[in-house]
Amino acid sequence: MPDKLNIIILAAGKGTRMKSTTLKVLHPLAESTIIEHVLQTAKSLSPEKIIMVFGHQGEQLQKHLYNEELIWVEQKNPNGTGHAVQMALPFIDTDAKVLVLVGDAPLIDKTDLLNLLQHPQAVLTAIMDKPFGYGRIIKNQQGLVEAIIEEKDASDEQRQVDEINSGIIMVQANDLKQWLQKINTNNAQGELYLTDILALAHTDGKSLNAVNVADCRSIQGINDRMQLAECESIKQQQLRKELMLQGVYMPVPNTVQIRGNINCGQDITIDTGVIIEGENTLADGVSIGAYSVIKNCTLGVGTRIAPHSMLEDVVTQGDCDIGPFARLRPGTKIAAKAKVGNFVETKKTTIGHNSKASHLTYLGDCEIGDDCNIGAGTITCNYDGVNKFKTVIENEVFVGSDSQLIAPVTIGKGATIGAGSTITKDVEADKLTLSRAKQRTIASWHKPVKK
Ligand code: UD1
Ligand code: MG
Repeated sequence: MPDKLNIIILAAGKGTRMKSTTLKVLHPLAESTIIEHVLQTAKSLSPEKIIMVFGHQGEQLQKHLYNEELIWVEQKNPNGTGHAVQMALPFIDTDAKVLVLVGDAPLIDKTDLLNLLQHPQAVLTAIMDKPFGYGRIIKNQQGLVEAIIEEKDASDEQRQVDEINSGIIMVQANDLKQWLQKINTNNAQGELYLTDILALAHTDGKSLNAVNVADCRSIQGINDRMQLAECESIKQQQLRKELMLQGVYMPVPNTVQIRGNINCGQDITIDTGVIIEGENTLADGVSIGAYSVIKNCTLGVGTRIAPHSMLEDVVTQGDCDIGPFARLRPGTKIAAKAKVGNFVETKKTTIGHNSKASHLTYLGDCEIGDDCNIGAGTITCNYDGVNKFKTVIENEVFVGSDSQLIAPVTIGKGATIGAGSTITKDVEADKLTLSRAKQRTIASWHKPVKK
């Protein structure tokens, strides 16, 4: 039977260097937050339990993770990583392997953790060109780990060591309990260091194995916004690589930001500067033009989105054209062969097969049939200041430019509305309806002259 696994996640630090009212681990990273990345990886190891050590602004963290199955442990007056783990001790199973993760290192790799768990007790380490700031792994001549020495406590010679502590440690629960009773605050920071258990383990003949990570970028911790941006950039590279391996083409990959999931077909193109958020499905042949934002969309086969368009909660059903500069808001549904052009805004609107709204239009709470043409400047007046009303435009309707359709209103099949009309009543099918004043020429009029 595999060992029982308990995971402790340390997240009680203040995160002062972020200079933010938001708790450090709640800052966004790709599709979620720093702490959620750590938690997802922790959960993927199927542990018996996960203990979250919180402190400063803990209520923010609890609110954010309210539907996660966690054991919450408060660390009042945080006094170091050793102190944080001491707080969690009463909740760990005595016969478990305990894995300690740090809440501010979100890129940690599952494979590295699985390697770590192969050992009876081990610390995850990395070889760094610039080990400054990290605890150094001190080994004896036989290669056994004798201790971890923090940067601030290290001698010049110890600072030369380039193997560093990732902050991630795995030991047996019973040993952890014993060793944590013996640590003290006799160090440069006056804190209880978790890392002091390595020397105690060595003395007990149970030296931890130093397990190297495959890629040292995966242990990057986040203490300030520059490190947050570095982690974001590493994460984005990984996400883009996955998509490209699935066949998505990005001519300028470094500029594309993925902040959600994409369920992808084949031959998809995502151009420069596109941002993708939430849950999305992109069918075969979808192309997304430069600087567009796509959020929670299902785009049908061959959908073409021209640059600078913004789509949220949109469904397209086939090869339609959207943009450039289109804003499609939640509840927009577009059939094949339809066109929504520049400076068109839609909300809760269905546009039928081969229907077109090519320029400068607002369509809200609107149902448009097939083969319609909505002229430039058409506005559905869906709001009376209190309530919203619906506009229904049946098949084959032609709405002349600069018309206002005051909802609730229905435009019958095949109707034509003369340009510049304000439509307040239902419109008869197959007829021309208009509501504008007749054109006149005033013969007695003269241009004004300057006085
Ligand atoms: C720690 C390690 C160091 C390692 C580095 C890797 C110790 C003493 N040092 O240093 O060897 O190279 O991580 O990034 O462990 N935390 C609490 N309560 C506390 C203090 C910290 O929950 O009282 C949490 C923080 O929120 C953070 C994690 O523990 O998630 C690490 O703390 P941090 O202060 O960042 O430790 P480092 O100085 O980076
Ligand atoms: Mg740190």
